[in-house]
Formats: sequence, structure tokens, C-alpha cells
Amino acid sequence: MLRSRVIGVGSYLPPRVVTNDDLAGMMDTSDEWIVQRTGIRERRWVEPDVATSDLALHASRAALEDAGIGPGDLDMIFVASLSPDHFFPGTACFLQAKLDVPAGVPAIDVRQQCSGFVYASAIADQFVRGGGARRVLVVGAEIHSKALDKTTEGRDVTVIFGDGAGAMVLEATEVAGAADPHVLSTHLHADGRFAEQLWVPAPGMALPGFIDHDLLDAGMHHPKMNGRVTYVHAVQRMAESVHETLAANGKSLEEIDLFLFHQANLRINEAVAKNLGIPAERVFNTIEWTGNTSAATIPIGMVEARAAGLLTPGDLVMGVVFGSGFTWASMLVRW
Ligand code: UT7
Repeated sequence: MLRSRVIGVGSYLPPRVVTNDDLAGMMDTSDEWIVQRTGIRERRWVEPDVATSDLALHASRAALEDAGIGPGDLDMIFVASLSPDHFFPGTACFLQAKLDVPAGVPAIDVRQQCSGFVYASAIADQFVRGGGARRVLVVGAEIHSKALDKTTEGRDVTVIFGDGAGAMVLEATEVAGAADPHVLSTHLHADGRFAEQLWVPAPGMALPGFIDHDLLDAGMHHPKMNGRVTYVHAVQRMAESVHETLAANGKSLEEIDLFLFHQANLRINEAVAKNLGIPAERVFNTIEWTGNTSAATIPIGMVEARAAGLLTPGDLVMGVVFGSGFTWASMLVRW
């Protein structure tokens, strides 16, 4: 069977650490509230001259080095991001130029927000399975800090997000069975009825004038979230995804060595684990020091879990995400 396998991962977090106390100096919030409600202690914010494609570049270089290949060996690249460099063209094109991926190689943006990395991985996996690509770079990269409302009005959203990037290289491989390292399955879902529960309203072509002073004065360029609704759906949909992925592969919960859940709120992941009966030590979280890096959470988790000795060859690892759209998705990988 022709399948894709992970041959390299890399990540990058910008150097500037922003603590909960730093945020409390900008808005009416507190370290106690943020830790209690979200588990987050700090996150990273970029400097003004850094673009999303720059974070993607650092993570991609690390992933290519880890894979032992160069940009000339890639025949397709994906960037998943809700915070693109520009309205158009897509961030994958900017990354292609910066990373020096040869002209002619397709560069594809995926706009499925916090689920974007798993969506992009699923598409990449299908290209590999179908013989349309041999080596694919999949990146999740986000700069949230530039768009957040740093006043008290935006505090519910602002305290949870952070900047960062992660990348993964998939390579075509012939596998004999489930024990060989490869992507076993991917599962994608969406329900656009909830699109306005977590979104950035402006700028946009649904508006009479794309962007204007009234929209800016009303703060419509900042992300808006119905936190309660998002929380409840995240807990429900992530649990469903775990069951779906297990059933599709004939696996039990006990057979999964590591769960990489999306990093939106530590309490969401604790609730999913508790509801399903997954022991806490099999759920790897980075949110305490990264915040929610949206499309970057899964590849950052892969890098950090491996560095912590929790992701080793032969392990079965399940990635499960939920985000704006609403979208949710999962992937099962034999590492
Ligand atoms: O990555 C995409 C998916 N995103 C998510 O999954 C996020 C899901 N939602 C959440 O994680 C939570 O809803 C939040 C962490 C965003 C908010 O927590 P919450 O427990 O749902 O708080 P809330 O919005 O219901 O607000 C409770 C109280 C309110 O005060 P009152 O009205 O009870 O007086 C808020 O004004 O907490 C207040 N509040 C804050 N206080 C201090 C909201 N944000 C803050 C804050 N600091 N940062």
C-alpha cells in the first residue's frame, strides 16, 4: 500500500514571552483568572517586523533538517493559517519564495483555522496515496498578537492566543500493515452554521466597503468569540472525533500511546480526557507556555512531545483539533 509517513518535524516560537501579568498591565485581567479558566501561564508574541511566513520559514527549515532533505526535494507545500501575511496571495507563496522551494511546485493555503493543520495533512496524505506527490511540507503558522484587542473589551479572546509555527514533512512509503510508520487515517468535519461564533468580521467582501473607519472604530478587525458555545462544542466534537478515529482503525483507547489535542484551553482537554476515561499522562499539552497557536498546535505538540521523550518510533499518536468554522478533524499516525 502506498501511504505517507512523517519523516521530519520542526517548530518555532518567537523569543518574546508575554506573561499573564504582562497582560494584566494592558487590560483588566489577572494571572489567577487566566490560569484557573485556561491553564495558560505565558505565550509568545512576535516583533512588529515579523510576518507569519517568517515563523513558517523557521519551522519549515527545522522540519527539513530533521527529515534530512532540502527545499528542492519537495513537490508540494501547504500553509495552514488564519493569520495570513496578506489578504492575497496566500502565505504558502510567500513561504515558497523565502524557503527557496523551486518554481513550479504548488503552494497551497488552507483556511480552516485551528483545524487547518489536520485539514492540510489530510489533503497532503491523499495526494501521496494517489501517487500525485512524493514529499509534501505541511505547515501551521500563526501571528495572533497583531490582531488581538488588547483592551479589557477583548480580554476573553486575547488571553488565550499566542504566536508560533510548526511544520511536518510527509514522504511516500510502501507499507505492509498498521505496524509500519505512516498516516493511518484522517477525518475532517465542519458545520458552517456556527461560522459567526468565532470569527474576524472585517475586512471582507461580505461588507459594503471591505473596510472603513466605522468598522475599525467598532473593533470589527479583532477576533470575536462566543466562548461558552465554542467551549461546549469543542468538548463534544473532539470526543466524537476520538471515537470516530478509533472505530475507523479498529483500535481501542488503550492502544493509543499519545493524544495531541488542540491547545485552545487546558480545561477543554481535561474535560475530553475525563469524559472518555483517558489518563492525563497520555494527553500532551503545551498550552501552559504557548497559549493557543491555532493551526500550529499539533506540529508544535509533535516536536515538544518527541523532545520530552513521549513520542518514539512505533508509537500510535492521535491528533484531534477543533476551531472556528466550526471545523474539527483528527489524524492517526504510526510514528
Ligand atoms: O481555538 C479555537 C477554539 N476556541 C476555544 O475552544 C475557546 C473556548 N472558550 C473558552 O476557552 C472559554 O470560554 C474562555 C476561556 C474564552 C472564557 O472562559 P469562560 O469561563 O467561558 O468565561 P466567560 O466568557 O463566561 O466569562 C466569565 C466572566 C465574565 O464576567 P461576568 O460577566 O461573570 O462578571 C467575563 O467578563 O469572566 C470575565 N472574563 C474575564 N475576567 C478576567 C472574561 N475574560 C476574562 C479575562 N480576565 N481574560
